[in-house]
Amino acid sequence: MILGIETSCDETSAAVYDGERLRSLVILSQDAHTVFGGVVPEIAARAHVTSIVPVVRRALDDADVALGRLDAIAVTYAPGLIGALLVGVSYAKGLAAALGVPLVPVHHMEGHLFAASLEHPEAVPPFTALLVSGGHTLLIDVPAWGEYRLLGATRDDAAGEAFDKVAKMLGLPYPGGRHIEKLASTGDPTRIRFTRPMLRADQHQYDVSFSGLKTAVRLALNDYAPADLARGFQDAIIDTLVEKTSRAVRAYNRDRVVLGGGVACNRALVAAMRDRLPNVFAPSVRLATDNAAMIARAGEFRLGRGETAGPELNAYATLPLPGLA
Ligand code: KG4
Ligand code: ZN
Repeated sequence: MILGIETSCDETSAAVYDGERLRSLVILSQDAHTVFGGVVPEIAARAHVTSIVPVVRRALDDADVALGRLDAIAVTYAPGLIGALLVGVSYAKGLAAALGVPLVPVHHMEGHLFAASLEHPEAVPPFTALLVSGGHTLLIDVPAWGEYRLLGATRDDAAGEAFDKVAKMLGLPYPGGRHIEKLASTGDPTRIRFTRPMLRADQHQYDVSFSGLKTAVRLALNDYAPADLARGFQDAIIDTLVEKTSRAVRAYNRDRVVLGGGVACNRALVAAMRDRLPNVFAPSVRLATDNAAMIARAGEFRLGRGETAGPELNAYATLPLPGLA
């Protein structure tokens, strides 16, 4: 029985996972950031301080599991906002020490890799993974859990960040991804076609770059309807992500694709992936965005390998994925 804790950004989340089934998941999203058009780190950290105890209590209640029945505490320790991470790490340390159970540090992006497997038993290695969130865009070949071959990443903006910045240009609220998706669904796909970035098959054939696309949208702002701009932008991002993922699937001969991260909520992206590739697994919305269920699930894997931490555990704003080949 594992308690997962996630506080790396602006979601305070706790979940109970029993090794087979997700018993509960509580996610408290901090609305305070919307007016600033982005996450304010100090506000995020302070909000985690006030939310963490009730969020954990609620997760235990929903699971009908008493504190004394927990076998381990898994917590996100990297990457993320340092002040936000420290709240979860410090709380998890205290709880693990008080209960006398192991503390399991989990890398946030490894959590995203495990998210789909909570809902789709076939979403297990070997597979090609595309993680697309507000902070990361990672294309990874996964021969086995814990063995990760990083193929490509973004050279500038993460996919979600590009969605958020374009949403801001179009006057949409933060975070803008789902607003762009909604607006794009009413746009005319033939009105404007943006150049697809970085499609050459060179040594960067798996990397992506979205800052040029963002600039192209800005330059077109006065000449096109917002819905057509949203559609043109989203189509360009999706085409690029699908093409890069297809290359990786072919190169490593995989027959499964696993998506993760907030941008994997985008139905048009998932549909385009399914058009081109077999066996595409995407988590539902609450497991695609930041949540503690994926941390508990990845924590179970790390615990099985004996990878626990002592009271000296620290948090890290940036850290490579464990098990990179
Ligand atoms: O994984 P996540 O919840 O947090 C990070 O770890 O960053 O991802 C949040 C990102 C935001 O940039 C948000 O705009 C984007 O996911 N997002 C979407 C959609 N829903 C959320 N992007 C495109 N389409 C969506 N439907
Ligand atoms: Zn995330």
